[in-house]
Amino acid sequence: MERNDAVMPAVAIVVAAFMWILLLFMFNNDTKPTAVVADPALTAVIQKEWPVTGKVIFEANCAGCHGAVGQGGVGPKLAGNPAVTGDHALVVTRILKGKAPMPAFGKEYGGQLADNQVYAVANYVLNSWGNKSTDLVTPATLAEGAGKVSPEVIRVRSRFVPEEIILPEIFLVTFVMLLLTYGIIGLYSHWAEGAELKPGIHKVRSTPMVMTAMIASLAGVVLFSVLFVKQILQGLAGMNATPPLPPQVTAEGFYAAMVVLLLALVLGIYKKYFMDGEVVVEDASGEFPW
Ligand code: HEC
Repeated sequence: MERNDAVMPAVAIVVAAFMWILLLFMFNNDTKPTAVVADPALTAVIQKEWPVTGKVIFEANCAGCHGAVGQGGVGPKLAGNPAVTGDHALVVTRILKGKAPMPAFGKEYGGQLADNQVYAVANYVLNSWGNKSTDLVTPATLAEGAGKVSPEVIRVRSRFVPEEIILPEIFLVTFVMLLLTYGIIGLYSHWAEGAELKPGIHKVRSTPMVMTAMIASLAGVVLFSVLFVKQILQGLAGMNATPPLPPQVTAEGFYAAMVVLLLALVLGIYKKYFMDGEVVVEDASGEFPW
């Protein structure tokens, strides 16, 4: 009997791929740095203003949450905080756009500070209470490829991971997962059972090739499990280090995903080559066609 479910899985996977690309664009828009224009006049103003204006702005707008000497409160500690001193772009972006409960301060984000004031207070934060920045932070220095961001920070702060995941993205991701699952199951059953369903008992036998693939996949499962556990232990150790190191979420996720994928592969191979199957097909002229 001809199968009619061979096309839909492929369509589902193609649709899922399109949605995934769409998602990457959504994420990317959320996290890509805003384009900036180098403006020497602005640089001069920031240079002149930060020690005094920056302090005034900080005391009026920020000290309530971050403490008068950056010691922290509702908001995180800013003095000696490596997340702050190591990532100038983060400081400016946070002040411009805020992040609940911190309000946005940039004019273009509904706040009350003009660009020169945002940079004044950013430089004040980066040069107070023991913080010391070698360079003045201006739109130009940020544009220069965020030269002051340590490579470690850039590596951890993936371009494709949004700061916060919002509802449409969750919806899209769920849908992509569903479509992919449906598509992969469909393609698998097509591969495992053939293009035509033949009713009856199917005896299977394995070949040396299949045996090798099985053993390689199982070895892969063991390998990635070990890597995963090692990575988690390393992450836990990093939490207790001074200063704390962020866990490498990407590596952890990759190892975990590989374990699951290889396990699925093992199951798939087992079902096709090691397990006898039975195909039951309803008589097409039967009273209940389903
Ligand atoms: C209503 C309280 C509040 C006010 C007012 C506020 N902040 Fe924040 N700020 C926070 C909180 C909470 C965070 C942490 C946000 C997060 O990452 O979830 C934060 C994060 C930051 C960060 C990033 C620090 C880090 O470790 O991630 C910087 C820099 C910062 N604020 C600077 C400022 C400056 C400068 C001002 C004034 C212009 C200001 N904040 C005003 C609450 C506040």
